[in-house]
Amino acid sequence: MSDNQPVTLVILGASGDLTHRLLLPGLGTLLRTRPDLDVKLVGAAFEALDEAEWRKRVSEALADGGCRVERAERMASETRYAQLDVTDPAAMAAFLAEVDEAGRPIVLYFALPPAISQKACGVLAGLDLPEGLRLAIEKPFGSSLASAQEFNKLLASVVPEDQIFRVDHYLGKATVLNLLGIRFGNRIFEPVWNANNIERVEIIADEQLALEGRAGYYDGAGALKDMIQSHLLLVMAIFAMEEPANIDAVELRDLMVHSLRATKVWSGEGEVPSRRARYTAGSIDGREVPDYTAEEGVDASRNTETLAQVTVEICSARWAGVPFRLRSGKALGDGFRGIVVKFKPVAHLPGGFHNGAEPNLMVIGFAPETIGLSVTTNAEGDRWDLEQTTLGTELSESPIRPYGEILDGILSGDPLLSVRGDIAEECWRILTPVLDSWASGEVPLDEYTAGSYGPTAWN
Ligand code: BG6
Repeated sequence: MSDNQPVTLVILGASGDLTHRLLLPGLGTLLRTRPDLDVKLVGAAFEALDEAEWRKRVSEALADGGCRVERAERMASETRYAQLDVTDPAAMAAFLAEVDEAGRPIVLYFALPPAISQKACGVLAGLDLPEGLRLAIEKPFGSSLASAQEFNKLLASVVPEDQIFRVDHYLGKATVLNLLGIRFGNRIFEPVWNANNIERVEIIADEQLALEGRAGYYDGAGALKDMIQSHLLLVMAIFAMEEPANIDAVELRDLMVHSLRATKVWSGEGEVPSRRARYTAGSIDGREVPDYTAEEGVDASRNTETLAQVTVEICSARWAGVPFRLRSGKALGDGFRGIVVKFKPVAHLPGGFHNGAEPNLMVIGFAPETIGLSVTTNAEGDRWDLEQTTLGTELSESPIRPYGEILDGILSGDPLLSVRGDIAEECWRILTPVLDSWASGEVPLDEYTAGSYGPTAWN
């Protein structure tokens, strides 16, 4: 997908944590695999930062991603930093004029809180913009269906959709992209990838990490908006989609939105549509974790959930009746992140075996990247006993981190791994009934001890 077009990457919010922890190291991994990439880096933020300090941060963060030292130092020596108020039209116009160079499209990467990004895009709408300007917008994209629609309308008045890159780093995860290879590159999975053979699917992102000082953002978002609205619904869309004729930005995203349009919160028997909970003090691997409400910056009266679970159904001939459970939370015991596919039992087991056959289970792990398939085999010792054997492998680690993959698409102008506007809206549409039922207090806010697997009553 990459080409070699020169490009200027402007990071707005360059002094922040996202830039330092994820964006620059991700760029570092990309530069290591693509030393030919002709990218100029400019940092800008509201905060005044000494240019020498910025250069030091750039070279360290690129090296952290594995970028070769000379390359990291060259980029650091050529980068510059500007103090900028992105909500000030005159300052923004002057800044863009300064960074604009003929033949070098600009990417404006908004590593900023959502409300400020939206304000800054409002400012851009009133300016004369450099030719081919691309906008990269971090998740969460809006805070509700209405705000996402409004943001999409605003963006459409600034640049065309193929110059808008809504970022979701889960789309850059190797195992998520691997779903396409597993499903469509094998004879044995696709024929059973349907409601006739699959009983249920769980997509889980449990984290051992707690709040990590992010109350300013997280306490206003919570687990549902932080993880399920974007990451997990997108993974589900790829898991469930029909076969693309070609893996390109139109086809892949058309088929993702096709699955999402058919998705609604579970309303049948046997499943709870949604649950929420918040952690109380506990310990994880010997590390003491305070009660969520005692964390600095948390307003307990907001009732922010740190664990969310939603079960949806994809109303199509392929998936009708299969519960897809999406769950994500913080401060949890085992931190499992991945997909668990439970197959249906065999239609008939010949008589004569001493015991029954357990259904097949497939586990696709995100971190580490693993695939495991449990199959029924004859037991050692007695051939008429059946037992489960797991065939598994750990996939080799991708040389490019998820943010590097996403940046690769943005820098080369390929929106394949970016979230299209209609997809972002569908994800909000699916969760609107959940948000409404939580707001009206219909779903209790349960509690779990940090370090546990969630509220015991959920199991
Ligand atoms: C981010 C969320 O998008 O994803 C964080 O804001 C979360 O709260 C992170 O910790 C998880 O990403 P990963 O790649 O570590 O699973």
